[in-house]
Amino acid sequence: MSLNFIQTLLVLIVIGVSLFYLYLRRNYAYWKNRGVPYEEPNILLGNLSFIMRKSVWEYFLELRQKYSTKDYIGIFLGWKPTLVVQTPELARKILTKDFDYFQNRLIRSSYSSDPLGSLTLTSFKNPTWSNMRHELSPMFTSLRLKLVTELMNGNATELVQKIQRDHIDNKEAVNLKELFSMYTSDTVGSTVFGIKVSALNDINSPLWYITSHMVKWTFWRGLEFSIIFFTPALAALLRLKLFSQPATEYIKKLFWDVVKERKQAGQTNDKDLVNHLLKLKDNLKLPADSGTQLADDLMLAQAAIFILGSIETSSTTLSYCMHELAHHPELQEKLGEEISDAIKRKGKEILEYDDLLELKYLTACILETLRKYPPVPHLDRECTATYRLDERVTVEKGTPVFVNVMALHYDPKVFPNPEQWNPDRMSNVAESDNLQFSFVPFGDGPHFCIGKRYGVIQVRAALAQMLSKYRVEPDPNEPYLVKPDPYSVMLSPLSGGRVKFVLR
Ligand code: HEM
Repeated sequence: MSLNFIQTLLVLIVIGVSLFYLYLRRNYAYWKNRGVPYEEPNILLGNLSFIMRKSVWEYFLELRQKYSTKDYIGIFLGWKPTLVVQTPELARKILTKDFDYFQNRLIRSSYSSDPLGSLTLTSFKNPTWSNMRHELSPMFTSLRLKLVTELMNGNATELVQKIQRDHIDNKEAVNLKELFSMYTSDTVGSTVFGIKVSALNDINSPLWYITSHMVKWTFWRGLEFSIIFFTPALAALLRLKLFSQPATEYIKKLFWDVVKERKQAGQTNDKDLVNHLLKLKDNLKLPADSGTQLADDLMLAQAAIFILGSIETSSTTLSYCMHELAHHPELQEKLGEEISDAIKRKGKEILEYDDLLELKYLTACILETLRKYPPVPHLDRECTATYRLDERVTVEKGTPVFVNVMALHYDPKVFPNPEQWNPDRMSNVAESDNLQFSFVPFGDGPHFCIGKRYGVIQVRAALAQMLSKYRVEPDPNEPYLVKPDPYSVMLSPLSGGRVKFVLR
């Protein structure tokens, strides 16, 4: 190689790097130029340098603490300017009132690289999203939830049996997150797929294998999810998947085996969601040339997102709730008494759907857990048309907008001593109440969590059965404050949250 060539190459590299640097500097002046308070970005990663070092949950809590007087702040998702709103009034505008400007979530993936991930309710854009939501909503009516609760109660009984077998007799502290992930994995098996698999009885349950693979927060899985959620364009470029190839294959096989078995046996079962998913497939209005594969995948994608949506969020809620109860024996006693009284009054050992809804203190404990530990710490939307936020700031089309749930749930004006777990503050709050947009653990507006009532009843069923038999005590080896897992996009207790079970 001649010297001239090397010199030219070096000059080109220096020019390229300088231009890139200038581009980034100009890009990072985005919020400053608009007079919006902002987080100072890191040159390459913007404000994403916290990823894999600290949980998303802690990041949003720190934003609240640092900018507690600011209604909104600017951050950079990589190089992408992103607005974070922190007040109930702005949350109301973004989620509900001005939904026409914020119709979509950020996440996107392509059918060719992630066939199921690209077809879930969380990935669809409007108008396909609203058609799909309309078709799925009837799966969560009160009538259906009543039937589903019967199945969940069966799983909760197995949970109690496992605690007796493994944790009462040997008196060891329990990793709650692991235990409750088994429970929620089993409830998905019975309520969505109509199959009786039991991770609680048999650690080799194939559904447990696949669900624990989906939500096992290794470094790489955590990184993959972070890229999918925070830099969707990069995720699409790298062809990352919400559901891995083995998970996709397994879900397909599991579902079609159940359908085949039922056809052969001439059975129908209206308690689980299998029939409903099949009806969904028939009702979908797909283009004539789209083929049956797409219709099948569309249906299976909804089953897959139910797995992802329910296992992680509900098991985290159960873990933190039990952990707090262990550290608040007097509140635990109050809840235990409410459950025992109901069991005596109703004259049945296992409380059913309507009975569970009547337990006011149980509801307060769950809502307070969701306030202090919202499993989803931010709600994501994409601005779909230029939007005037106030007299100073205009949000450009394509800008990601986050509602900081932590800022709302930790506002001391609404929730005095927000760090304190105090179910009494929720004693008059109904499950459906968002306290004027100060309490949004399930999101709000047209995109709110479709599985909200399913998730809460799943938590209720497990707590009622466990606390009718056992008390929980703190594990002396674990501090009160349980660190969130830095690899998980949603909140997940790193050590699992450990307690000891003792007989009541
Ligand atoms: C304690 C339990 C749960 C919590 C805390 C929770 C939380 C959330 C949150 C915060 C959102 C975003 C809402 C928004 O952006 O406004 C969401 C969406 C969603 N959740 Fe849940 N969830 C739970 C249980 C479930 C369950 C059991 C399922 C399925 C059966 C589920 C399926 C979904 C789906 C499909 C969406 C997307 C909805 C849409 O965009 O239309 N979730 N959830």
